Amino acid sequence: MKRLATLAKLSVRKPHTSQLTQAGNYECFSQYQKYAGMQLIKKLKIKSGSTVLDLGCGTGSLAKVLSTQVGANGRVIAVDPDEERLEIAVQKYSSANIEFIKANDKSFPLGNYDVVFCNDSIQWIRDKEGLYRRVYQNLLPGGCFAISTPDTSFPIPHIGKKLFDNLLSPGFLPRMNKQVMTYLSANDYKHMADNTGFQITSMTSENIALYWTDLDHYIDAMYGWFGGEFDPSQLHENALNQLRKESGYAPISLPEPIKKLEFVLSKFLDLV
Ligand SMILES: C[S@@+](CC[C@H](N)C(=O)[O-])C[C@H]1O[C@@H](n2cnc3c(N)ncnc32)[C@H](O)[C@@H]1O
Repeated sequence: MKRLATLAKLSVRKPHTSQLTQAGNYECFSQYQKYAGMQLIKKLKIKSGSTVLDLGCGTGSLAKVLSTQVGANGRVIAVDPDEERLEIAVQKYSSANIEFIKANDKSFPLGNYDVVFCNDSIQWIRDKEGLYRRVYQNLLPGGCFAISTPDTSFPIPHIGKKLFDNLLSPGFLPRMNKQVMTYLSANDYKHMADNTGFQITSMTSENIALYWTDLDHYIDAMYGWFGGEFDPSQLHENALNQLRKESGYAPISLPEPIKKLEFVLSKFLDLV
């Protein structure tokens, strides 16, 4: 099992939340996502001159990596619905061959893409089969749709459950993990590929244990990870202090590793 120790050794540590925006926190505390994205990029062997759609590009660091792979003759169209994240992307990762655009799974620019890259974003998209169809229609024959996402059992630490249930509301986590985000099993993703004409080129999973240095670090990270859905300024300081004590100011680990699923789907023939 992979242990992402870097999460506990961040060079940027903030004492407690809200000094950054949710997008700023995502940029600081998205080591898991960047790790998953780099794994996927390595697998793709993207050719110079390719056109890549980065769907749900977040704060843009992986779009920048993709842009170095496609080179000066290629293009990266990087889309995300979150304006704050795109602002960071434009400030930090602009490049002549990247276009950052505010759009989502239904409104991304239509085109003839060599690669559609979707790292840790598909769980935010409700109609996943509809997305598969749209991606298929906008891929060149021979192109591929690359996805990385956690499987159905996205774990929450015990103290995290207390934080969200007691200090926000008992409905917060079920809403996040069943309505706002939807996680599917590897089999579901495989069936959707079969239903929409994709060939599965590769399908792998990896268990990744994550931990954060303490409760405040976990809150910072979740502020970024849950986007605008979780606002730590709603937490009452006294109640939070109780939870800090209860956590022993010790590292927060996931009760079980995240099972990261990774798929590369190919469009071999233009069947439509
Ligand atoms: C966990 S982040 C991943 C960002 C980036 N791919 C990375 O690896 O750092 C998920 C991203 O999906 C975006 N997102 C949410 N709903 C979306 C939708 N319907 N279509 C496309 N992207 C969406 C969010 O704004 C967020 O930036």
